[in-house]
Amino acid sequence: MREGTSTVVRREDYTAPSHWIRTVDLTFDLDPAKTLVISRMSVEPNTERPGQPLRLDGEDITLTRVLVNGESISFRFEGQQLVLEHLPAEPFSLEIRNTCAPEKNTELSGLYTSGGSFFTQCEAQGFRRITYFLDRPDVMALYTVTLRANAKAYPVLLSNGNRVEHGTLDNGRHFATWVDPHPKPSYLFALVAGALVCREQCVRSRSGKDHLLQVYVRAGDLDKTEHAMNSLIASVVWDEARFGLSLDLERFMIVAVSDFNMGAMENKGLNIFNTKFVLANPATATDTDYANIEAVVGHEYFHNWTGNRVTCRDWFQLSLKEGLTVYRDQEFSQDMAGVASARAVKRIEDVRQLRQMQFPEDAGPMAHPVRPEQYQAIDNFYTTTVYEKGAEVVRMMATLVGREGFRRGMDLYFARHDGQAVTCDDFAQAIADANPGSDLATRLDSFKRWYSQAGTPRVSASGHYDPGAGTYTVTLAQHTPATPGQPVKLPFVIPVAMGLLDSDGRPLLLQLQGESQYGGTERVLVLEQANQAFVFTGLYGLTGEPVPSLLRGFSAPVILEWAATERQLFTLLHHDTDPTNRWEAAQRLGLLRLMGAVQSGRPLQLDAAYIDAQRAVLRDPSLDAAFKDLLLTPPSEGYVAEQLAAAGVPVDPPAIHAAREAMRSQLAQALFDDWVWAFEAHHDNGAYRPDPVSTGRRALANLALAHLVLDAGRSGDPVWPGRAYQRVQDAGNFTDRQGALIALLGAHHALAELALARVHAQFKHEALVIDRWFALQAGAPERDGQVFQRIKTLVHHPDFLVRNPNRARSVLTTLFHLNPSALHRADAAGYVFWAEKVVEVDAFNPQLAARLARGLDRWRVLAEPYRSAAHEALCRVAARTELSPDTREIVGRSLA
Ligand code: ARG
Ligand code: ZN
Repeated sequence: MREGTSTVVRREDYTAPSHWIRTVDLTFDLDPAKTLVISRMSVEPNTERPGQPLRLDGEDITLTRVLVNGESISFRFEGQQLVLEHLPAEPFSLEIRNTCAPEKNTELSGLYTSGGSFFTQCEAQGFRRITYFLDRPDVMALYTVTLRANAKAYPVLLSNGNRVEHGTLDNGRHFATWVDPHPKPSYLFALVAGALVCREQCVRSRSGKDHLLQVYVRAGDLDKTEHAMNSLIASVVWDEARFGLSLDLERFMIVAVSDFNMGAMENKGLNIFNTKFVLANPATATDTDYANIEAVVGHEYFHNWTGNRVTCRDWFQLSLKEGLTVYRDQEFSQDMAGVASARAVKRIEDVRQLRQMQFPEDAGPMAHPVRPEQYQAIDNFYTTTVYEKGAEVVRMMATLVGREGFRRGMDLYFARHDGQAVTCDDFAQAIADANPGSDLATRLDSFKRWYSQAGTPRVSASGHYDPGAGTYTVTLAQHTPATPGQPVKLPFVIPVAMGLLDSDGRPLLLQLQGESQYGGTERVLVLEQANQAFVFTGLYGLTGEPVPSLLRGFSAPVILEWAATERQLFTLLHHDTDPTNRWEAAQRLGLLRLMGAVQSGRPLQLDAAYIDAQRAVLRDPSLDAAFKDLLLTPPSEGYVAEQLAAAGVPVDPPAIHAAREAMRSQLAQALFDDWVWAFEAHHDNGAYRPDPVSTGRRALANLALAHLVLDAGRSGDPVWPGRAYQRVQDAGNFTDRQGALIALLGAHHALAELALARVHAQFKHEALVIDRWFALQAGAPERDGQVFQRIKTLVHHPDFLVRNPNRARSVLTTLFHLNPSALHRADAAGYVFWAEKVVEVDAFNPQLAARLARGLDRWRVLAEPYRSAAHEALCRVAARTELSPDTREIVGRSLA
């Protein structure tokens, strides 16, 4: 694809395919250097588009023959497309032979080798790198796949569906034939061949059918598959219970691969996963890894219905499957967490993620609607907007129609569209049609602006209390800033869940003007105009003004602009019944102080009220440790930067870093005794369990330890650094080992070096731990440029393998996306390094390079001298003639 003229693909240009491919019979003679592919297809002209030539997609493969109904025919190429003309008007058979070179496939799209085995990745357009095909999701075929390979080197041969035949061949080779009973688009095709072992388990579904579940890994990794298997079983059970969706296959396989561009892939019956989202044992994985594995295993499994049974008509509809499936995996994780407080922690983590990643995207040059209008490289649109904002759009629908209503909508969606390739409109229509008269159905057209308009709406809120009339009026106004290509926006339909507290923080019973009932403490206001007022009545005899708790549960992906007083925020922090808003109050209190310091240019000086509130949270016996950890973690530097940018203040990353570090060290000192208490009360050495309670205790203990070690930097007391070092040596699990290491790195303590060396020596054969080892160093808080210098050394470390995406990301993504104060330097060295690495990676893996390139896409909000220097680096990359369409699209849009 390299140097191919980048062409823009537009949603409005969609046309149905010229032909349908009904069945495919694929035979692979697997060889790393040259694999032979034979594809026998039954093809049917699309009667709605008669007389069209058949244009088959192909990329980096070599054609050896084409037969139509057994006869050779003439053909030509247009670019890399194979064009066949003068084809029969009746259904015909088409046979294609071609070769490809898996071991040379460094892009990791199509068929490639990793660790001596074969794997595939076909979404979005990898199948065309395997054979010539109508590589588009609306062409669905029945697949039969025969794999032939050396039996010793590749004892396991897997593809989608059921294995119907296997046996030996000449010359030490063997074969296996697989049949997938469900028609599918080419992006869901997969094969795996190699020396793998598996953990397996049989489960019986509610419907009484038996299924074989398997998790395939390399021989040494079997002891790290228990959690993935448990997560898979839980996913099967959950989808039946919550959505009535059963597994439709006799066999469901997960395979782990260590070279993988993304998280995982939902190929029908044969999910292929990044090892990072499969392998875990207490010694090598953290609590976050355990949670991520559960979420990703769930996500890919849930795609079996939302994605595979019902798929996307075209790639503009990607959020049809991704937004919905993220919503489903988020709900799954919440249900797995169990009790309300643990569910709330998961919701807050999701909200934090959305605001940290998606809001900046929606405010920058890559802003695009949940259903994009155009793309150059589709792989660039597997974004947090399509995934996480898409999930929020589904969540808002569920809010507007209620839990049962949403279930009815899902049932109707499958009743209508099972086996089809459909659009986001079809999904929204099904949810609305199943709920006639609902808040969604009555305003469906305007609601669907969430699919078509980019940008994060800003909702400004103000409240007015009239004690004489007993009314409290909430006025909401919305405005969405312009985004590239969309200067003017129409109002969105925004569900605003809210409650009112009295001045002592007690929830008030509510009655909205026009409502017949009085009662309940929460309402969902539906804001659909630019400006609307909502009047609560019957509020007599209050001692003071009510405190509004707005956007509870983060009921819409908007920025709430509400000029809350400190007093109101403290009331919400201590008393609100909605955990999301308690957390939000804590974030705002921190943010006000951080922004104040940055904008005034004066060093941050924490006030007693803030410190006392933090202490009260830490000591509150009614709060869970996990929730305390969230409340006590100040807003990230990236989030502070975005808030400043939104306020029109040029972003100075080192200044933000300095303010946040000052906040951390003042809290470390002021709450010293409290942190000691928190550490002693929450660290324990029992057997490791990844449940929410134990996870929360570890998180809080490690947060306490980080503050204690940090304060030692001031006091010079060696006790806590010593204890942290001790924990690096003998922690019973990797979460605590990493927590101690982070504490030492975060305090720039001399023992950090020793601790790093120990961890490396102990885990040098555990690739995922070594990834962390790199990431911890690259993500350490910057001081005097030391972290950046270390990163420049790390990329020359013998274990830094830039061609392995996980390893490359452990240093490069960490620096470019997660460590602003190390990247943004007055001497521009961070940007020079960025340009160098983007260009280097682009030469062998454009998808990965394009992701790295996004590290500078918010350059316009930077203060000088960062802004000009970042701009110059972007221009330098853009000026290169050798650049993949993927990376070119990113730098091009960044500069536009
Ligand atoms: N469908 C996969 C998932 O989210 C991700 C595929 C990503 N593909 C890509 N080209 N980036 O479950
Ligand atoms: Zn997905």
